[in-house]
Amino acid sequence: MATLLHIDSSALTEGSASREVTATFRSAWQAEHPEGTVIHRDLAADPLPHLDAATITAGYADPATLTEEQRAAVALREQLVTELEQADAVVIGAPMYNFSIPSTLKAWLDQVIVMGRTGGEAPSAAGTPVVVVASRGGAYGPGTPREGFEFVQTYLEKVLAGCSASRWSSWCRS
Ligand SMILES: Cc1cc2nc3c(=O)[nH]c(=O)nc-3n(C[C@H](O)[C@H](O)[C@H](O)COP(=O)(O)O)c2cc1C
Repeated sequence: MATLLHIDSSALTEGSASREVTATFRSAWQAEHPEGTVIHRDLAADPLPHLDAATITAGYADPATLTEEQRAAVALREQLVTELEQADAVVIGAPMYNFSIPSTLKAWLDQVIVMGRTGGEAPSAAGTPVVVVASRGGAYGPGTPREGFEFVQTYLEKVLAGCSASRWSSWCRS
């Protein structure tokens, strides 16, 4: 059974352009996969913890020695990584905040990119199509005055290329 991982990171729940487009994508995907499953991660409604010392050190520790805090951090990270690995497609709403992605989306990326598993030489989610809905208020195209300020597409293209295969659906509101 096909699975879509649907990520929203706009802080707005009403009037969000990226949420509108990711919801449209999801509806179209569901029409094509009536038996499919959608996992929705709303990073504004349910923000993920930033990667912290407990999580990082747990990755190198003997599992028998983990504290309760480390066990909880490992369990959450495992769940998030598994969601990415088991997805047949991913759609990500990525509004531009101060020329970059929302910190909530960066927190998700830091949780799901694990070197030697989803990142590195043989990424476990390699080949998974990712559609990014990039909303922003200004224009950052080639030749515009703010061309060099674009750190959403330029960043996500590189970081997602390391663990999947991204496709671009850029949407601008100005
Ligand atoms: C905190 C904040 C920072 C923003 N920073 C930028 C920016 O640096 N460049 C830009 O073009 N638009 C910026 N915008 C405008 C948003 O990118 C734009 O409204 C976009 O539609 C937001 O996506 P959403 O409608 O899904 O929330 C910012 C908006 C907010 C709320």
